Amino acid sequence: MAAAGKVIRCKAAVAWEHNKPLVVEEVEVAPPQAGEVRIKIVATGVCHTDLYRLYEGTNKDGFPAVLGHEGAGIVESVGSGVTEFQPGDKVIPLFMSQCRECHFCKSPKTNLCEKGILDPGHDKKVFENSRITCKGKKVVQFMGTSTFSEYTVLKEICVAKIDPAAPLDKVCLLGCGICTGYGAAVNTAKVEPGSTCAVFGLGAVGLAAVMGCKAAGAKRIVAVDINPDKFEKAKVFGATDFVNPKDHSKPISEVLIELTNGGVDFSFECIGNVGVMRSALESCVKGWGVSVIVGWTDMHDFSARPIQLLIGRTWKGTLFGGFKSKDGVPQMVKAYLDKKVKLDEFITHNMNLDQVNDAVELMKRGQCIRVVLSVSP
Ligand code: APR
Ligand code: ZN
Repeated sequence: MAAAGKVIRCKAAVAWEHNKPLVVEEVEVAPPQAGEVRIKIVATGVCHTDLYRLYEGTNKDGFPAVLGHEGAGIVESVGSGVTEFQPGDKVIPLFMSQCRECHFCKSPKTNLCEKGILDPGHDKKVFENSRITCKGKKVVQFMGTSTFSEYTVLKEICVAKIDPAAPLDKVCLLGCGICTGYGAAVNTAKVEPGSTCAVFGLGAVGLAAVMGCKAAGAKRIVAVDINPDKFEKAKVFGATDFVNPKDHSKPISEVLIELTNGGVDFSFECIGNVGVMRSALESCVKGWGVSVIVGWTDMHDFSARPIQLLIGRTWKGTLFGGFKSKDGVPQMVKAYLDKKVKLDEFITHNMNLDQVNDAVELMKRGQCIRVVLSVSP
């Protein structure tokens, strides 16, 4: 490869400040160091978590940054000691590491890895180890990935090698939202055949949770959203009942308990709203109902009455749907190629990197499920 070992100058969408549009700039991407992989990003999804960093969240000083963490691409070059990857391999960058060696990686009970976000110095290290600069300034690689860039560098423990037959402009979505929602149902909740489920929030994450419930054999899947435009899509993924909280004057948990004769077996909060987290818990059946928090927020506390748990409900949370990242992503790619999971149906818009701010606006206004940006030609 001509550029191997050299700095690559390329295009990236840079977030200079909190609450400001992104600017497409020329950036410099350093060669991969030991244990690292430089990747040409071909396509990327725009996920709510990218917007969260830009417009909400507690981390207002993590700028300038290159956002994007739902991408797919091709290995351009590898650093010393890397044997698993070769230039030309199709890969998906991972915001959750899987080193396969730490205490957590060795346990089947979790998908967290001690070398990733569990490490207390993680944010600082991600900044220090950034391989991207713009106008002489080091740029934060958001979530360690930075897929809104034609090239990026990741640690090899944060890269999944995937089937060479995979279409990158579709499987990029497996880098975050789809695995998160789908895995919440099949891995974290372990939805049982014949069960009744409720999914709150029908963005890509919630729709993927609906798809996971259906794959696990749920008999009834109640889709809940304040935007009724989302119900048609939810049906495509397997939802059987549709509830708009705005159509009801009583609490949504009461509506669901009535609708399902006592409450659902499994519920999923896919919004990041602490009030809805409580509603999702209270919508579960007494005795064995399981509620999974999937939506992300680091800004608010949640609350509930202990009695809700004392009477047998379980409240859980999940990151990346409980998938061990390096193992799970290639399996999900295969499931897509085998037509066992849908991806195309999540994509409502295709654009290119120059239109990233239009994509962000569509997400903000709730007018899309997923925009896929074509990044490198
Ligand atoms: N009740 C029901 N539905 C709601 C409510 C509410 N109070 N508030 C918002 N919604 C719906 C929106 O109408 C939208 O359809 O929740 C959905 C959220 O979808 P997106 O904004 O597209 O978000 P998505 O990408 O699916 O991510 C959802 O998961 O990974 C996290 O950070 C992500 O917290 C976010 C969540
Ligand atoms: Zn590990």
